[in-house]
Amino acid sequence: MARKLLLAGNWKMQKTAREAAAYAREFLPRVKAISTIDLLLCPPFTALAAMADALKGSVVQLGAQDVCWKESGALTGEISVSMLKEFSISHILVGHSERRQYLDEGNALIAEKMKVILVAGLIPILCVGENAMHRKTKRHLTFVQGQLAAAFKDLNASDAVRTVIAYEPIWAIGTGNTATQKQAQEMHAGIRAWLSKHYNSATAERMRIIYGGSANADNCRTLLEQPDIDGLLPGGASLDPAVFATMAEIA
Ligand code: PGA
Repeated sequence: MARKLLLAGNWKMQKTAREAAAYAREFLPRVKAISTIDLLLCPPFTALAAMADALKGSVVQLGAQDVCWKESGALTGEISVSMLKEFSISHILVGHSERRQYLDEGNALIAEKMKVILVAGLIPILCVGENAMHRKTKRHLTFVQGQLAAAFKDLNASDAVRTVIAYEPIWAIGTGNTATQKQAQEMHAGIRAWLSKHYNSATAERMRIIYGGSANADNCRTLLEQPDIDGLLPGGASLDPAVFATMAEIA
């Protein structure tokens, strides 16, 4: 089954609202004719309002980088899904390895976030991926399957098809050390096999599994040639509008 590619830029903690608007002015004219792939930008929370304005009427969708697991309440500093919906966002990243690593986000919390996003009618992009030690000791696939089992524990097949999975090996993020097309394809196929077993093959075939970890304009073509790689989640390479537009053209 042909799955539409998703090219999603994760800006992380970079760009002010003003810088985001300047990015949009440069990026949008370059991608306005692109319709065969889905394009998404995930700026920081503080740039969502500026980006919602800038992207209005364009082919580029808007996403957030995180959300609170609760709908509302006494949770100082947190941001709820309904607050994010005010900016007409479509997707929310969940369980990025930087949040797992530096903010101690665990699998149980991530599973709650998946649910809150789906209930709100938005699309979670679940990030999974092993560290260098898991790979060295050949436990990478089991490790990622464990992350999947926890995140999809309470979700049925009709929920699952409304999600995206991003495979992001930690050793490849921000290092320039991109997974080879073989390593990435092998893991994506392994994730799809897990989905097929956990749900069914029709569900697994419909779901998009995208790759992140030093994806850039030079390596995106070979990665996207792989049958189970349905898009990319670049961080660094999405920060420059010319580079990200080039990636969109290649995809
Ligand atoms: P990178 O980040 O492309 O800069 O490696 C990817 C990500 O963490 O989403």
